[in-house]
Amino acid sequence: MTTKSSIYIECSGLFKIYKAADLEVVALRGLELTVNRGEIIAIVGASGSGKSTLLNILAGYDAPSAGTIKVGNYDLLQMTNREVVEYRRHEVGFIWQETSRNLFPYLSALENVELPMVISGAPGPERRKRALELLDVVGLAGRAGHKPGQLSGGEQQRVAIAVGLSNEPPLLLADEPTGELDDETGVEVLALLNKVNVDLGTTIIIVTHDPAIATSVGRAVAIRDGKTSTETTREVSFERRLGGDATGTEEFLLVDSAGSVQIPREMLDELRINRRVRVGVKDGKVTLESGD
Ligand SMILES: Nc1ncnc2c1ncn2[C@@H]1O[C@H](COP(=O)(O)OP(=O)(O)O)[C@@H](O)[C@H]1O
Ligand SMILES: [Mg+2]
Repeated sequence: MTTKSSIYIECSGLFKIYKAADLEVVALRGLELTVNRGEIIAIVGASGSGKSTLLNILAGYDAPSAGTIKVGNYDLLQMTNREVVEYRRHEVGFIWQETSRNLFPYLSALENVELPMVISGAPGPERRKRALELLDVVGLAGRAGHKPGQLSGGEQQRVAIAVGLSNEPPLLLADEPTGELDDETGVEVLALLNKVNVDLGTTIIIVTHDPAIATSVGRAVAIRDGKTSTETTREVSFERRLGGDATGTEEFLLVDSAGSVQIPREMLDELRINRRVRVGVKDGKVTLESGD
């Protein structure tokens, strides 16, 4: 089970404010998230809820405005430019939704997988060997010489996963990786991400607006208005995860470090709770009633 020492990612009170002209957009407002080493989780939320903002910060592409965010030995609020480069190169792999954005069209699948290793200075023979191994992991060993244009969308995303894993990062981030794929191909790509998680032990975060994806991983965290609001967990074996069996799920509201929870709007409406609540403890349970 989870122990304190296995915590890999820790975000607390995370804020991101975008300033465009004289307008401020608060994309993350006090987000809290903890991910253990070797976990695979889904971040689920409506469009505009802050999912990509969080992922871009985790990828080191964007800096948060306030709060704390730690990934392994890196403190993402305190990184020097040099550390940012090192972090992006060795700690994280990233997969974009747009299949075309992940790969260079004029390079073969093999060359695409080798490229991050070229940039990080790995020796040639080692590069080629590892790239071939990775193409094998994603089931495309036979297509090494093909260019992205000669591969289907699903195959391109498989190559993108291999590219993301090229420098053996402990963390793989995927922003709506199945967004441009049909359902069946999407399921295959998710199965592959689950396999990578099990076989290589890579910690994986998959962002999606599709609640169905949430049921294919062990834990799904929902973001609402820039804050993590609920978490759905299920005890699943690897085989059942691949099979997409969704039984045994349980949903929890998340309590942030200030003690806040986001109570679903329907419940507030049903109890006619508007601005204030009376809180009590009864029979070992917390009760809320309208104080308006
Ligand atoms: N570069 C930016 N400049 C200004 N506002 C932005 C920028 N990127 C995202 N936003 C705003 O931040 C909010 C969260 O966006 P985003 O993280 O992309 O959401 P999601 O990925 O969940 O759809 C949205 O209101 C969006 O318009
Ligand atoms: Mg997005």
